[in-house]
Amino acid sequence: MMKSLLIKNIGILQTPVGSFSHKGVQQAENLKLRDAAVLIENGVIKEITDQGKLPLDAAEAQTVIDANGRLVTPGLVDGHTHMVFGGYRQHEIPMKIKGATYLDILRAGGGILDTVRKTREASENDLVQKTEKFLDEMMDHGVTTCEAKSGYGLDLKNEVKMLNVIARCSRDHAMDMVATFLGPHAIPEEYEGRADEFIDMVCSEMLPYVKEHGLAEFADVFTEDSVFNYDQSRRYLERAKELGFGLKIHADEIEAIGGSRLAGEIGAVSAEHLISINEEGLRSMAAGGVTAMCLPATSFYLGANYAPARKMIAMNIPVAAASDFNPGSCPSMNLQFVMNLACIKYRMLPEEVLTAVTINPACAIGRGGLVGTLERGKQGDLVIWDAPDMETLCYRFGSNLAAKVIKKGNVIK
Ligand code: NIG
Ligand code: FE
Repeated sequence: MMKSLLIKNIGILQTPVGSFSHKGVQQAENLKLRDAAVLIENGVIKEITDQGKLPLDAAEAQTVIDANGRLVTPGLVDGHTHMVFGGYRQHEIPMKIKGATYLDILRAGGGILDTVRKTREASENDLVQKTEKFLDEMMDHGVTTCEAKSGYGLDLKNEVKMLNVIARCSRDHAMDMVATFLGPHAIPEEYEGRADEFIDMVCSEMLPYVKEHGLAEFADVFTEDSVFNYDQSRRYLERAKELGFGLKIHADEIEAIGGSRLAGEIGAVSAEHLISINEEGLRSMAAGGVTAMCLPATSFYLGANYAPARKMIAMNIPVAAASDFNPGSCPSMNLQFVMNLACIKYRMLPEEVLTAVTINPACAIGRGGLVGTLERGKQGDLVIWDAPDMETLCYRFGSNLAAKVIKKGNVIK
């Protein structure tokens, strides 16, 4: 039987348009419809109307929601998370307060390696339960599609366990998830001092296995001082490219050691973090058409600088903004806070911010044709906000303003 949902009396329906990454002036191009309505049939947007008109088949809709003059946007897309993990790391807070940096903690065998120990100990079912709770919280805040990375297993068995968790959650939870393999996230204890050998093993054993079993669409690497250098990252990404993975790279989070340059050279879909990016990296990303996946809540939590998003927009680099939700550098999954920071710290306009949390990340995770905008034929994923306009969303921070969340035409919240 056909299932249909009508959302009427929308004050402003605001959305980017198209299924491509928006760069430069396009970043600020949003369609704004007043007195709008959306009809979703069998999970897909059938018709959008404005100026008080109703869709042709509005009268037949089984469910009707009155938006009461509020703002509607596409469901948010969180393009970068590490949401599958064994345990939080709140014990790092006093170390941080006393002056230890993120890399100090990692070099001392803590940080990511601490989460690796906890994640290796956890069962797959345990991780599924934890992840589903996170997914509930994300959806409650307006996210309807997200990316999730492995990277706390660092051996074949545990990396596969993490990717299975993502596959199961994606299948069983309302959230759409896209999996990224992040085998080279840290040098595991058993490979201490042997990063090259670890990369060899990842390239010869893990990548082919993950590909063969269809466990991830993207491959990612943490290119950073004391983690993986330019050459190791390049070797890994070249192998991943050969195998047909889309490429991502954690680049220039703390030190600019060539990660963003590599992203442009090798044709990565996105480079993430980019806090310390230099001119060379920016030029390489612009030339290679790489999306900048900026993570301002991580800058906030690390007390670090903010990625030069305005410069990126000026250089025609598509900008996306994501949570980076993880137990170490960003223990928050609130994409609304990311939007506030993008506005206040990156100096992005509300329209640019909306593009950065919808169509640009959707394209960066291979879902631009399905989600990220409100248009006929796209998936019926949207949020009714407790706000009259995008300005309010960028301005009110610390509260959850997602009033109703619709996923594939189903009312989730
Ligand atoms: O994106 N930088 C590497 N990975 C994560 C942090 C992971 C962790 O600390 O557990 C990030 O910040
Ligand atoms: Fe990350």
